[in-house]
Amino acid sequence: MMKSHGCGDLRNTHTGARVTLAGWIHRRRDHGGVVFIDLRDSTGIVQVVLDPQRTTCAKETIRSLRPEYVIQVKGDVTARPAGTENPRIATGEIEVVVSEAEVLNDSPTPPFYINEDVEVEENLVLKYRFLYLRRPRMRENLVLRHRLIKGIRDFLDRERFLEIETPILIKSTPEGARDYLVPSRVNPGKFYALPQSPQQLKQILMVAGFERYFQIARCFRDEDLRADRQPEFTQLDLEMSFADEDDILNLIERMTVELMHLVRPDASFAQPFPRMTYTDAMARYGTDKPDLRYGMEIVDVTDIAAHTSFSIFRSSLEAEGVVKGICVPGCSGYSKHQLTELIDHAISAGAKGLVTLAVVDSSNTDGGIRSVLTRHVTGNQMRALMDRFGARDGDLLLVVADTESTVCKVLDVLRREMATRLNLVDSNSFSFAFILGFPLFDWNEEAHRWDSMHHPFTAPPPDDVPLLDTLPGKVRGRHYDLVCNGNELGSGSVRIHQRLLQQKVFSILGYSDKAIVERFGHFLRALEYGAPPHAGIALGLDRMAMLLAGEQSIREVIAFPKNQNAVDLMTDSPSLVDPAQLAELNLSLRRQRIDRT
Ligand code: AMO
Repeated sequence: MMKSHGCGDLRNTHTGARVTLAGWIHRRRDHGGVVFIDLRDSTGIVQVVLDPQRTTCAKETIRSLRPEYVIQVKGDVTARPAGTENPRIATGEIEVVVSEAEVLNDSPTPPFYINEDVEVEENLVLKYRFLYLRRPRMRENLVLRHRLIKGIRDFLDRERFLEIETPILIKSTPEGARDYLVPSRVNPGKFYALPQSPQQLKQILMVAGFERYFQIARCFRDEDLRADRQPEFTQLDLEMSFADEDDILNLIERMTVELMHLVRPDASFAQPFPRMTYTDAMARYGTDKPDLRYGMEIVDVTDIAAHTSFSIFRSSLEAEGVVKGICVPGCSGYSKHQLTELIDHAISAGAKGLVTLAVVDSSNTDGGIRSVLTRHVTGNQMRALMDRFGARDGDLLLVVADTESTVCKVLDVLRREMATRLNLVDSNSFSFAFILGFPLFDWNEEAHRWDSMHHPFTAPPPDDVPLLDTLPGKVRGRHYDLVCNGNELGSGSVRIHQRLLQQKVFSILGYSDKAIVERFGHFLRALEYGAPPHAGIALGLDRMAMLLAGEQSIREVIAFPKNQNAVDLMTDSPSLVDPAQLAELNLSLRRQRIDRT
């Protein structure tokens, strides 16, 4: 090796040792000819001192050193002079006084600072990924991710799970997104799909008798991208035979607790993880992935609103809508401008408007409450509203009238917005919870058909099976989600393990008998041959790492992510391919689509 020690490994116990170090110049300070360098390698940072009087290195070489040059130095570990120690870094008590130095490679000035964690334009971050990844924060994030995955493997190995790889070139598995397709050269006109998840294959492994499977699985989905979505991402995918909801949830809770102790021992979280029904989560928080670190739960005032003369309430209720709101503490003093801002925020989330009630003096419903509503409600109605919200002086009530789904969506957005404004979000606290009792199907208004709420392999509870023929919308799914701090971390279900039931669910989803055989024939055949009852889950590893690293985007915990348009800016992919490659695949492109510029 070209080094005897890692930069970040040196301590005052090494004082007096002669060391050889190699790494990148993180920072350079010239103090009248004596140059102090923060030398960085994968282990951390140490200060090295190049004094022209004490080194064989030429003065010009010392002067030429710039950030991100790669150098090798030989020198002696020395205690830093009293008063110059740096308690912020692990090596802060010592420095290396250099006797020999060699430049191993130089570097142009990077397009952004590596030694300062200032925000950088996204295109540069992705194009110069190799430089961005040099930032200590990014290194820490990838170290955390490594430890998380290692922790998962260790835990599941102890639990007697087997890690089994499944193919990347597969037949399309519906998980709600578009597939990435791969043309087959040897089977002209035919395509593989990249797996949206190994769902069918892990279930087939249960039929094959493995009983406990897991995989750190790469998944591919051609869908609209957001801060928590990438076209390719990683799941901890697992499946267990002879298991029900409790078995999976208890296992995942034990694993998550162990992982928290491992990678975030400083963090706080409540145990046992609360379990909440989907209906309850929607009613109280307007979302199936609530952030439970703060209150401001949704309050339903539809019945009170129904008796007022307020036309906005009345017209919503005539359209079978609802009137609900949240009570925000301490914001009754909001200015007109601040209220307008909130109204705009609600409108951009889908509301037609927002009714605000500033509670200045709740005992005086005749002047103590500032709102357009005061002119349209009686004193009793206002008192009933205040009681229902449990409003106190100083509170600001935000009320929305619309369809149930719009009201939920808008109040969820407002609740999160107000929590951020009021600093109620404790970044060291993690509120894990399981959400259960989802409906099996979701009515797709546009396509006029039932979609799976989770995926078509989720089982209904036995009691609900008769409803499949009569009231599919009322059938519950044995589906569960793990949520944390407003994010969906994972999703799974008890599966259908009987062919006939699986076939029925496919037909309710609108697949013809022919399509069922073509797309799922292999799967149904497997179910026929003694498929055991089984259940499983998949956790989004990128999301989990993002959350534990305290990042806002999964791009910060993925080494080489893609941008919002699914483009890898570093390698410029996707890219055009050689016409000969297309010809080999029996493919041709429509000319007008190709942009060669
Ligand atoms: P689901 O589709 O809910 O379930 O995915 C499971 C978890 O994977 C993560 N995830 C994503 N992360 C980043 N980018 C994406 N585009 C993305 N899509 C999903 C989320 C999500 O909770 N086969 C089922 C699991 C099962 O039933 O066992 C499945 O894939 O954290």
